[in-house]
Amino acid sequence: MECERIVIRRGPRSGLPIIVAIHSTALGPALGGCRIKEYQRWEDGLADAQRLAAAMTAKCAVAGLDHGGGKTVVVAGPGPAPGPRPDRTAALHDVGDLVEEFGGAYSTGPDVGTGPADMDVIAERTRHVFRGDSSPATATGVMAALRVLGGDSYAVIGLGHVGADVAGRLLAAGHRVLVTDVDERKRELFPAAAWVSPDAILDAEVDVLVPAALGGLLTPATVRRLRCRAIAGPANNQLDDPATADLLHERGIVWAPDHVVSAGGVLYATETDLHGASPTAATARVEKIGETLQAILDRAAGEGTTPLRAAEALAAARFTRPR
Ligand code: PHE
Repeated sequence: MECERIVIRRGPRSGLPIIVAIHSTALGPALGGCRIKEYQRWEDGLADAQRLAAAMTAKCAVAGLDHGGGKTVVVAGPGPAPGPRPDRTAALHDVGDLVEEFGGAYSTGPDVGTGPADMDVIAERTRHVFRGDSSPATATGVMAALRVLGGDSYAVIGLGHVGADVAGRLLAAGHRVLVTDVDERKRELFPAAAWVSPDAILDAEVDVLVPAALGGLLTPATVRRLRCRAIAGPANNQLDDPATADLLHERGIVWAPDHVVSAGGVLYATETDLHGASPTAATARVEKIGETLQAILDRAAGEGTTPLRAAEALAAARFTRPR
């Protein structure tokens, strides 16, 4: 087990399995969103929580935050996710109580399957929750990363809060944009974009692929099909395995590590909520994701290694250097 601490509990109100995984508090209190998602087995949710918590540790370390990584997973299935009320409220109160038990060693926030309204409900049970919408800031960070990579054409995979925001900004900037989502109804959101099926978009001839859906998109099988020259998006845990970063490298595709690209939400939330920064100052910090990514790509090129290894070296240095 890589995590410092894991708590698994059947929510006393909701009856749903709730998992909080704290990966590391070495740099400071852990933070990481609350995911409500269906899993075939609750153990799959546990595995996901651990991987996502580890990714948050890397995200915070590279972003220069004095925080560690954690994650909450509410296993909502199989079957329909908890409806608007009262089930959802019960699950969120269960989450709030559990987060409160960590006494500030872990703070949660929005993630896949949850949003600002849910954070308000969690806040009825704990102070240790980031309220407000982190999606625009995450999208700002993604745009900063995309500017570093350059390009005229983009394929956005997943039109959730962040993906849709990024697709909109790319279209507004006059780029050619392909979009897809597992939910066909999202098609109507972007009449100006070209809709491609979730599978076919992997073969799209575009400059940059933007993974903005669930993780695990990049596998040996999918990497073989890609015809983009770079990849950068907000989805967490895009690689099925770290070795897939080597396959991308061999194919000459620049992969911007997801934990570098997706740090806008946590950067903005910690700056405004914990350090009293103004929206302008917090956004400026988010924009720095571009500089961080550039430094990582330069280091990777200089050392003939992958951006993943370069990012890992950057993160590792934070754990050995005195704070
Ligand atoms: N979903 C965010 C992420 O993966 C988590 C988060 C957002 C945590 C905002 C705190 C505040 O980075």
